[in-house]
Amino acid sequence: MVTQQIQWYPGHMVKARRMVSEHLQLVDVVVELIDARIPAASRNPEIGKLIGGKPRLILLNKADLADPVVTRQWLDFFQESGDTALAVAASDSGSLKAVPLTVSSLAKPALEKWQAKRRLPRAPRLMIVGIPNVGKSTLINRLVGKKRLTVADRPGVTRKEQWVRLREDLDLLDMPGILMPRIGDEEVGLKLAATGAISDAVFSIEAVTLYLLGRLSNLYPGLLCKRFQLNNLPDDVTNLLQEIGIRRGALLAGGKVDTLRAAQQCLDEFRDGRIGRISLELPNR
Ligand code: G4P
Repeated sequence: MVTQQIQWYPGHMVKARRMVSEHLQLVDVVVELIDARIPAASRNPEIGKLIGGKPRLILLNKADLADPVVTRQWLDFFQESGDTALAVAASDSGSLKAVPLTVSSLAKPALEKWQAKRRLPRAPRLMIVGIPNVGKSTLINRLVGKKRLTVADRPGVTRKEQWVRLREDLDLLDMPGILMPRIGDEEVGLKLAATGAISDAVFSIEAVTLYLLGRLSNLYPGLLCKRFQLNNLPDDVTNLLQEIGIRRGALLAGGKVDTLRAAQQCLDEFRDGRIGRISLELPNR
């Protein structure tokens, strides 16, 4: 079982959760980053409990790698659930245009309450949270741009060096909140591993690739055939990996397929988007 091999450090988890809950009280909006290819598996199961009634913007990141039709279905799903969600690619500034405006509108009620107490006006404050490798640092760097301006003294903000003023007059906590992914469910572990959210050192690359190939055979058989120049898909994923190994020249002395090398090659091609734009999860309706 793959997920049993994953090492989770309780100390880190407690520290990370404390960081998020301590800073929550300082922000008006939480931006929750999830992976558009696995929007359910890449969510922290306790996020709702953790942020309580704080307004939240869900960003389906890495949308450039996900199936656009499925991403649209997820956006509809979140909207129907009463959430505000956008599809973005943190690596592409153009895709982030709607983010500041959406954050500002979500922060409006909190700021009106603030001013009703006759306090000095202030900019909306936001923090970014998400599981490891979902793109938090990339997003912060894109939003901040080259010019990193430190926010001057502002009421209620104690550690001022951690805040940056964005061009759109928003104060961003310059430190993402790290959330732990869901653990204990094998399929979730496999999806996280396939997309690179879990380090390659802690799972069996072959097991993850065989899982991925099974999923792709069901959901995107055409893309698999095209990428690996197959007329038909073998009826078994082990045979499929063999075929891929032959086509990629991942062979041992004597001509046997080097399954580890074939699996790594296949994973790399999936993660880079070379097989195509792929989503591994559909919303449950
Ligand atoms: P984190 O802070 O949440 O841990 O994630 P981070 O920003 O470090 O991003 C993790 C990886 O995901 C990085 O790739 C980053 O480039 C990539 N990434 C982030 N957002 C996007 C996106 O919208 N689309 C795509 N395609 N990739 C994205 P890396 O391979 O670890 O590093 P590098 O390639 O940037 O050197």
